Amino acid sequence: MATITKLSLSYIPHFPHPPTTFHKTFQTLPLFTLPPLCSSSSFENQLRKTISSCRLPSPAIRAINQEVVQTPSSKSTRDSKTDPVASSKFVLVVGGSGGVGQLVAAALLDRNVKLRLLLRDPEKATTLFGEQDEKLLQVCKGDTRNPEDLDPSIFEGVTHVICCTGTTAFPSRRWDEDNTPERVDWEGVRNLISAIPRSVKRVVLVSSIGVTKFNELPWSIMNLFGVLKYKKQGEDFLRDSGLPFTIIRPGRLTDGPYTSYDLNTLLKATAGQRRAVLLGQGDKLVGEASRIVVAEACIQALDIGFTEGQAYEINSIEGEGPGNDPQKWSELFKGAADTQ
Ligand SMILES: NC(=O)c1ccc[n+]([C@@H]2O[C@H](COP(=O)([O-])OP(=O)(O)OC[C@H]3O[C@@H](n4cnc5c(N)ncnc54)[C@H](OP(=O)(O)O)[C@@H]3O)[C@@H](O)[C@H]2O)c1
Repeated sequence: MATITKLSLSYIPHFPHPPTTFHKTFQTLPLFTLPPLCSSSSFENQLRKTISSCRLPSPAIRAINQEVVQTPSSKSTRDSKTDPVASSKFVLVVGGSGGVGQLVAAALLDRNVKLRLLLRDPEKATTLFGEQDEKLLQVCKGDTRNPEDLDPSIFEGVTHVICCTGTTAFPSRRWDEDNTPERVDWEGVRNLISAIPRSVKRVVLVSSIGVTKFNELPWSIMNLFGVLKYKKQGEDFLRDSGLPFTIIRPGRLTDGPYTSYDLNTLLKATAGQRRAVLLGQGDKLVGEASRIVVAEACIQALDIGFTEGQAYEINSIEGEGPGNDPQKWSELFKGAADTQ
């Protein structure tokens, strides 16, 4: 079981943030849920049906059906009293207050991997992750749309970057202040990648299935406001950057974002029956992915050498999953190549 230690958020000096009041009212709208402005529930249901009626393309796509998934808390390596930082990694998580990002951050904390969060609202880290040793968790304030927020100090000491930023595919309150797919998934990702130093060993970008087919049905519906096109532009920019990268493209996300949860509760989150993982390549996969599984894929990809320079689609289905076993993940990533 993870231990919560004293909170000491270390703010990057160039990014002081004014004290803010924390509201426990997080967005629960997933990116690909149609929002009120342009949706009726029947339209949304129709869209979901259209997408889920697309046939899973490849019998070669492998599910791993091995042992019961271990949630990070049940297979914790953490002993914060004796071992505050158990890894030489220092991971910058961008979008760590979001659904996938919160699970990435929680799992890294549970494994005593040092991390820094770049958040628009650093107060969210306090609520989500509680009191943490500053040797383990640092938080800095920044908006990826503003290149000036991506000061070199953000990357000081950082060895790996995981970017899980995103906004809704369709107009919603999360587009307030122009936080649209174009600004977040394209400009924000471009700004971030441009600022990452060459010394970083791996950049993992969370993108989406369907990005290579945004002009084709049903993806063109999802792409009405450009989300898939802009995500693809972000991917291409990363590919061309020369940085060592891995792209993870989830299907429609399930499980989370968790709201009003603390670290211990986050660590207990499970994908229920849908723990088995499908990994594909070539953008042929159609389906859903548990945020828990996506977060684990991002973390595992950091250490699996051959995932460098690759993009993987990911779904989760009913069955036993790989949990956080590196060997099983390595087999899954290897198997994905057969689906191309
Ligand atoms: N939802 C789906 O079905 C689906 C399907 C396929 C792929 N995806 C992709 O999967 C990833 C994770 O999705 P999710 O639903 O788990 O994420 P989410 O809950 O929507 O969280 C998005 C994160 O991005 C941050 N963010 C947004 N705009 C930002 C900005 N301008 N600067 C800095 N940070 C910003 C948010 O911070 P705040 O807390 O400040 O808002 C939040 O931490 C995203 O890339 C998403 O596009 C989603």
